[in-house]
Amino acid sequence: MVMRRRTFIRNSVLTLAALTASRTAAGKSPDSTIKTASVADSVERDNRDNGPSSALIRRVIPASGETIPVIGMGTWLTFDVGPEPKVLAQRAQVLKAFFTAGGGMIDSSPMYGRAEQVVGELMARRGEQNGLFAATKIWSALAATGPEQLRQSLQRWGVAPLDVVHVHNLLRWKSHLNTLRAARDNKLVRYIGVTTSHGRRHGELEKIMRTEALDFVQFSYNIVDREAEKRLLPLAQDRGLAVVINRPFQTSGLFSRFAHLPLPDWSDEIGVKTWAEFFLKFIVSHPAVTCAIPATRQVAHMIENMRAGIGHLPDERQRQRMIGYVRSL
Ligand SMILES: NC(=O)c1ccc[n+]([C@@H]2O[C@H](COP(=O)([O-])OP(=O)(O)OC[C@H]3O[C@@H](n4cnc5c(N)ncnc54)[C@H](OP(=O)(O)O)[C@@H]3O)[C@@H](O)[C@H]2O)c1
Repeated sequence: MVMRRRTFIRNSVLTLAALTASRTAAGKSPDSTIKTASVADSVERDNRDNGPSSALIRRVIPASGETIPVIGMGTWLTFDVGPEPKVLAQRAQVLKAFFTAGGGMIDSSPMYGRAEQVVGELMARRGEQNGLFAATKIWSALAATGPEQLRQSLQRWGVAPLDVVHVHNLLRWKSHLNTLRAARDNKLVRYIGVTTSHGRRHGELEKIMRTEALDFVQFSYNIVDREAEKRLLPLAQDRGLAVVINRPFQTSGLFSRFAHLPLPDWSDEIGVKTWAEFFLKFIVSHPAVTCAIPATRQVAHMIENMRAGIGHLPDERQRQRMIGYVRSL
């Protein structure tokens, strides 16, 4: 499996020369996006895939009907580490815990220093890429460097095609989306999308979601920042976009604010034993959310985070109760 993918990468890198030349001609009309799965399908698929066991809940990618686990993994800061064997061995344990729990999506970016390379090296050491859903980004203010950045990402991850590549923070999004469409046509990338975070530029993101043919969109959403519920989440459902939620803990801000306070005495009803599960279950119980991507350096935290994708998810009444409880603190 690894060999096959690595051989493919060598060929892929050659294809990128052609990609650079062809990228301005690429692009589909919004109507040409394939939409094969509705939100109702998504809920049904949850039930079928989840079954009665404790398996990680999976969500449908509307563009294809493929499913991915509802809890993924971010890599900003946490996997931007040096080559010291001790540090890499520790992060290998974090990755092991992720895949043992049934994890899939790993989100990175050329913006995150060595993170893509570290993930690529550790995946190669694992000797298999089963289950990996490789998500990265193009992050460049220059249109011309998009294809080169993509080539580097393919090499760093050691994976081809990459599963989803987003335009990071909407930077030069028109040009980079053209690059990504050409890459998708050349089978270097399977899905394409755009990201933002911290609640920034929602108006512009909304416009892009309405007018461009995307597969994925990524933005911030959590129990104290619910702005996305108003427009972005319903729009993603309408447009058939997979939704990835970044900064699910507000980069640990939610723990600083609430972790010293007690969980509600009805936590058992929503299948929650820790604040991490509380925060993540709130996010992934929104029907428009496909995957949340918490980041951690710690095995124990990874295990805790993955538990949020197992078992009961709060229904609408319970979600409102969770909001009320957090407001009361
Ligand atoms: N524009 C964009 O595209 C964009 C922007 C921001 C983020 N992102 C993506 O989203 C990912 C997640 O966002 P983020 O990294 O800002 O932060 P986050 O996932 O909201 O929070 C990470 C922090 O939470 C702590 N943590 C994790 N699990 C925990 C647990 N169970 N208990 C207590 N603490 C825990 C981590 O510390 P420990 O290491 O000690 O566990 C770390 O400090 C990023 O890594 C990145 O992949 C994308």
